[in-house]
Amino acid sequence: MTKFEQVKQDLKTSPKIWLVTGVAGFIGSNLLETLLNLNQTVIGLDNFATGHQRNLDEVQELVSDEQWKNFTFIHGDICNYEDCQLAIANVDYVLHQAALGSVPRSIADPITTNTANITGFLNMLTVAKDAKVKSFTYAASSSTYGDHPALPKVEENIGNPLSPYAVTKYVNELYANVFSRTYGFKSIGLRYFNVFGPRQDPNGAYAAVIPKWTSSMISKESVYINGDGETSRDFCFIENVIQMNILSATSDEEAKDKIYNVAVGDRTTLKELNQAIRIALETQGILVDLETIYRDFRDGDVRHSQADISKAKYYLNYEPEFDLHKGINCAMPWYVDFLKH
Ligand SMILES: NC(=O)c1ccc[n+]([C@@H]2O[C@H](COP(=O)([O-])OP(=O)(O)OC[C@H]3O[C@@H](n4cnc5c(N)ncnc54)[C@H](O)[C@@H]3O)[C@@H](O)[C@H]2O)c1
Repeated sequence: MTKFEQVKQDLKTSPKIWLVTGVAGFIGSNLLETLLNLNQTVIGLDNFATGHQRNLDEVQELVSDEQWKNFTFIHGDICNYEDCQLAIANVDYVLHQAALGSVPRSIADPITTNTANITGFLNMLTVAKDAKVKSFTYAASSSTYGDHPALPKVEENIGNPLSPYAVTKYVNELYANVFSRTYGFKSIGLRYFNVFGPRQDPNGAYAAVIPKWTSSMISKESVYINGDGETSRDFCFIENVIQMNILSATSDEEAKDKIYNVAVGDRTTLKELNQAIRIALETQGILVDLETIYRDFRDGDVRHSQADISKAKYYLNYEPEFDLHKGINCAMPWYVDFLKH
């Protein structure tokens, strides 16, 4: 039995109270679904800045009525301290996901990103410390590696941030570290590397590459590659991210007060990704005969990204179960269904 299977079994016999911020978003709603399926009690906080009621509705359909009764939604803002205080009451484990994602969004509007990602983060960290929760796990980002050229990325070696978004995510790590030194409040930061999966929003100017391309291919719209197609990423399926959140939340003291890469440890170029999505859609009966259009590199983008995941394996017994292809094949049926409606 893997560590993750053992933890899930333990949680089922001894349910806990979880707070998931950003619960109406992509990652938050997937965490909610897994936790409710494990018969946990979940408090969710979201202001629908980029999340959707439809994500919560979908989770409701996927769990039993009994499990859904274990969910309490707070429509609130992490920038509002009272909302955070309300959400934290009686919570055991915090999974802090709420933030404004997207490098281009932060370049277009650094102040709004700063407020949600730094003020909101500090509010959540402070109420969690005061409430003496058992653990605080937060969404950090691989963008923190910035211009550091080494591959694969090792947690301890970071460069200069390349965007306002990257600055905010690095500041989260700095605050977490200072809270440990100053107040003895230890947390865990998860540096996600390009997460993808069902419920990741394909719409809007700041959609991530996999949902954006998938949506374009299904709707027979042009598919654009920023740059020469050789830009590479360590694409990480949502199930791996869920595993890391649950392992982190329930970890022992030795694993806390640390930052972990959350990825697969592989590197896929945009050209290869484009091909992988086409093939996966073909197995869904959708023939993609669109031409790919190359355009300029995007400001603030890191050229290559690949994680070293040995730290997460060592301290948390992380075992990613989904590589890119397995993940894409799981995600495509959801997109085909979603975009039909
Ligand atoms: N998806 C990725 O590839 C990726 C990579 C690195 C880091 N992350 C981080 O993971 C977390 C979740 O990202 P996601 O991909 O699910 O994005 P998402 O936009 O789908 O989810 C974020 C959620 O946070 C909510 N939110 C934003 N500001 C809020 C506020 N002020 N108060 C309350 N709720 C607020 C949004 O409404 C949304 O539901 C974010 O912190 C993001 O920075 C994601």
